[in-house]
Amino acid sequence: MRILIGADHGGYLLKESLKAHLAAQGHEIEDVGTHSADATDYPDVALKVARGVAKGEAERGILICGTGIGMAIVANKVPGVRAANITDPRVVRLAREHNDANVLTLAGRFTPPEDAAEIADAFLAAAFTGDERHVRRIGRISEIDDARQGL
Ligand code: RB5
Repeated sequence: MRILIGADHGGYLLKESLKAHLAAQGHEIEDVGTHSADATDYPDVALKVARGVAKGEAERGILICGTGIGMAIVANKVPGVRAANITDPRVVRLAREHNDANVLTLAGRFTPPEDAAEIADAFLAAAFTGDERHVRRIGRISEIDDARQGL
């Protein structure tokens, strides 16, 4: 699967380990940065990944900052993006099955690399159920995206 990945300084180290894990599984990874542990601002990284996913340049995006929260806030401003900040491996499958999440955000300062790998694997493997109730709810999200100019 083609994946866009990005991080700020709070997620840099976890990004490097997760990138290696995903590449070893045969995924095609494009890393939009950051490329060092120097302080950088997460909104621009989040926007690059979110826009790429919204445009269909990659099937999924993964964003990592200290908490995953800032990345999720920014990514969810891009119409068509449904970003889920996951800190517990038990809930990631539902983010795909119910919410059809297309961007995963992770907490670089709080998520051990093995948990991040488990979360990312589940995020990439799980599919949207397509159940009518979930399709209806995702449809409402798309309508809200479309109406956002007027909010
Ligand atoms: C940077 O210190 C930190 O605020 C950032 O990595 C992230 O956690 C924001 O949500």
